[in-house]
Amino acid sequence: MTCEISDAVVLITGAGGEVGHGLIGRLSAAGRRVVTLDLQPLAPALAEGVAAEYTGTILDGDLLARVFHAHRVDAVFHLAALLSTSAERDPQHAHRVNVEGTLALLEQARQSGERHGHTVRFLFPSTIAVYGLPSRAVKQRSGRVSEDTFTQPTTMYGCNKLYCEHLGRYYARHYRQGAAAGLVPALDFRGLRFPGLLSADTVPSGGTSDYAPEMIHAAAQGQPYACFVGPDTWLPFMAMPDAVDALLQLEQAPQASLTRTVYNVSAFSASADACARETIEVFPLAHITWSPDVRRQGIVDTWPADVDDSSARRDWGFSPAYDFRCTFRDYLQPAVTARYARRS
Ligand code: SER
Repeated sequence: MTCEISDAVVLITGAGGEVGHGLIGRLSAAGRRVVTLDLQPLAPALAEGVAAEYTGTILDGDLLARVFHAHRVDAVFHLAALLSTSAERDPQHAHRVNVEGTLALLEQARQSGERHGHTVRFLFPSTIAVYGLPSRAVKQRSGRVSEDTFTQPTTMYGCNKLYCEHLGRYYARHYRQGAAAGLVPALDFRGLRFPGLLSADTVPSGGTSDYAPEMIHAAAQGQPYACFVGPDTWLPFMAMPDAVDALLQLEQAPQASLTRTVYNVSAFSASADACARETIEVFPLAHITWSPDVRRQGIVDTWPADVDDSSARRDWGFSPAYDFRCTFRDYLQPAVTARYARRS
């Protein structure tokens, strides 16, 4: 199906990934027209909910121009990225995708906003990887880290995302110093720093917080799991439905209520050991062992054990529905069980 140029659409890049899965369903259920861009064709069930689907890379400038000229894009959810472990395998490629790809999208969105005489909302999932705590001891004693502290990432992914947060702020507030000249910006950039995400529908790939979802998906399939970080490793997490809700809530928030361009969000902080115990609680046949990988452990050790998301709660009412136990018992256990039952 194609759209008329006059129809306002929401563009999702990286739509076939973890967050895209939930987001497409929620946006199309709300009656929004969704246009997707992903390296791979969407799964048929996912494609049903979209108005137009493009297959290709965000580094293809001609393709991006075609998408933005074929539709009146009102909002962009820019999900396409190489995550932290993948990015360390090929840092130069990660930089191209994560930085040059984001810059190209920001520019297309800005031009599109100018062409159509409106402001395009640009939603950008950032990450706890933008933090770089200097040691485990500092991590332990720092507790809930606020947005403006410890932003010295040690991974290419973290550097890329932190820089793109700044690029977004530049485009939204300072592009060619338009604000000083009294011009209305064509782009409204809003970022969320996600913690580790736990999804029942997809198995993550290429991230370093992936141990938690991996142990659950392995347990549901009756497979043993060797965890690549040690049991006393703490990170903030949230369930995927809360992550999708957060993106949609932030998109809808009135600009006047926002005091930042990028917000921390999180539902709970948990150790790998607590995740393993809870996995065993909901899947009693789970077999989890510990086999820390020095590089991946090193990455997680620089990320905060928890984040201060009070700005998101105050400015736009962020309030996750799933705490630690609910995430495992009410969301993951039934949904992951159903996922693998469907496949057998
Ligand atoms: N999930 C991301 C990663 O592990 C961090 O936000 O790379």
